[in-house]
Amino acid sequence: MNTEQSPRLVSRQSASDTIKGAAFRQRNSHLLTASAQTCLESASVSLEQTLASLQPRDQQLFRLRLARWFQNLYDGLWPVYGQRADFNAFIGRLVQLMATYYVKRPDELKTLDLERDLEPDWFQHESMLGYVFYVEQFAGRLDKVQDHLDYLQEMGVNYLHLMKVMQSRDGENDGGYAVTDYRQVDSALGTNAELQTLCSDLRERGVSVCIDLVLNHCAREHPWALAAQAGDEHYQQYFYLFEDRTLPDAYERTLPEVFPEFAPGNFTYDENCRRWVWTTFNHFQWDLNWSNPEIFLEIVEIMLDLANLGIEVFRLDAVAFMWKRLGTDSQNQEEVFDLMQALRTCSRIATPAVAHKAEAIVAPDDLIRYFGVGRHHGKVSNIAYHNSLMVQFWSSLASRDTRLMTRALSEFPRTPNSIAWGTYIRCHDDIGWAVADDDADSVGLNGPAHRQFLSSFYAGEFTGSFARGGIFQFNEATGDRRINGTLASLAGLEQAIEWGNTELIDLAIERILLAHALICGFGGLPLIYMGDELGLLNDRAYDRVADHANDSRWMHRPPMDWDRVANRHDATTIEGRLYGGFMRIVQTRRKTAQLNARYDTDILNTGHPHLFTIANRHPLGTLACVYNFSEHTQWLNVQPLYDSGVVELFDRLTAQEINVTDDAIELPPYARLWLS
Ligand code: GLC
Repeated sequence: MNTEQSPRLVSRQSASDTIKGAAFRQRNSHLLTASAQTCLESASVSLEQTLASLQPRDQQLFRLRLARWFQNLYDGLWPVYGQRADFNAFIGRLVQLMATYYVKRPDELKTLDLERDLEPDWFQHESMLGYVFYVEQFAGRLDKVQDHLDYLQEMGVNYLHLMKVMQSRDGENDGGYAVTDYRQVDSALGTNAELQTLCSDLRERGVSVCIDLVLNHCAREHPWALAAQAGDEHYQQYFYLFEDRTLPDAYERTLPEVFPEFAPGNFTYDENCRRWVWTTFNHFQWDLNWSNPEIFLEIVEIMLDLANLGIEVFRLDAVAFMWKRLGTDSQNQEEVFDLMQALRTCSRIATPAVAHKAEAIVAPDDLIRYFGVGRHHGKVSNIAYHNSLMVQFWSSLASRDTRLMTRALSEFPRTPNSIAWGTYIRCHDDIGWAVADDDADSVGLNGPAHRQFLSSFYAGEFTGSFARGGIFQFNEATGDRRINGTLASLAGLEQAIEWGNTELIDLAIERILLAHALICGFGGLPLIYMGDELGLLNDRAYDRVADHANDSRWMHRPPMDWDRVANRHDATTIEGRLYGGFMRIVQTRRKTAQLNARYDTDILNTGHPHLFTIANRHPLGTLACVYNFSEHTQWLNVQPLYDSGVVELFDRLTAQEINVTDDAIELPPYARLWLS
């Protein structure tokens, strides 16, 4: 080997030399194109000064990470901003920003960065369990969350999504998604110092904190928007403002409506600016103009600042909408993936412990792009919500027929092995019936009719329905009716309790456990919405809170019921039965290597219309999961299981051997088996 290229020789060089050194350049030439290399060199000019206060080894680490990931950054930003004359200066400011926050990063977090460099697949591990809540509904305030850490730890939660953490506007605020200050904790919940302490205490217990980063819009009361309203041209460029309706009308021709009932249309006239403002969601949420690189820099600074407080996962909210293009639905545009790749890379360089989770509730072919396809392969985000798995669960549960689910999920493209699906059965949002017409056609269903059936089933209108949901956002133009409801209320527990029917209660419990087993056994990162482990019902009194009254999604964001938590070990109570079953599932998951998200999950088509079967592949052998979506006992021929690679019919959930009778196994109502 040529000694000039030897890694040992390079590591002995002084830190300040590293980027500029010929040996370094040569060694990294496979990572960087010539144009990226030139751009990096010009962007690194004043790095020495910015990093000067750090130990040489610390400086060197930053430079190594910058060189390692710079091409991804460049490739993300060039297509979006590359035509600008100030592109190199922009990259220079970005590199300075990353270096500045790297310098400020607390040592404890720098150690975590190193740990994650060594274990970049941490969020894929089978031991991962996510838990999600509104702080106000769980504990009232951030400091009170501390009182319940033992409960979270008992469940094995190691990923905690805290909602509505940053300051949002007073009054209606879309459940906190109308942010007025991205860097300040909501004064009703506590302080930044309390958030920092909570993150640190949780980290000590092995729990990573996730919060939202609302990328598509800010509140009309955010200082940027207020400045725009006051006529400041710099800040007017942060938004999409139009003097008349010509362009808004042209865009509207192909734009859908997200909240057709309470916010029809996508533009709002602002009296102060005397302009039409792009407002995809509510009139008080102003869409940010990502074609302006200042927005990119602003958001990166916010992200790095929050990461330095101890946030380990960013849920990137409503990312599908970040780029607008005339003549399209202005969702999932190529630039979205460029920008997300660049944001992801900024975290990798300056705060490598941080992971990104994409919130994109879009069709399967688009959804997969949030992990990165083609030139973005594996570079866009680490985690994305598996919306289709969620929708198909509810579809099969209502129809007792799994053929649509099997078909739709088998058609899913393969994912890169560096990512994890966020598997969930419901979240703080409503459920929209994202069933593709061609999937429905292929199993003999009519798409629109099936979606209508699902709405009326879960609204409890359909004869014989067990569900007690509510309609959210009836769209007259499309006929769409989305659904609100907690897991337990949608799965029949509310009705069964009201009717005092113990048999129906038993069935509802089995349905809820089926849901937990499905999302925990899919080889992703399961995200449990607070209270679903105990069967919390819909909060019918949500409208007594003035700020919630206008948004019926609060029906399924009930306050935590700490009496039920206290009953959780009492197997004679409903919550005790649910919690016991839930714990068996999560404890088994933790010991099941096949459920690491890195390995492939295949959908098995057994031809059985009531069972859903998957195979989680692993070098140790296949884990087959079989779920009965009906209230009747079903039998499954074992051959497809053996064909899938299962050698022994041992159910890990009950730790029992499964009997085979006439080449078939028995599945009681709503049974779930994890066979390996
Ligand atoms: C995301 C949030 C949802 C919010 C929307 C607009 O989808 O989950 O609650 O209404 O973004 O910010």
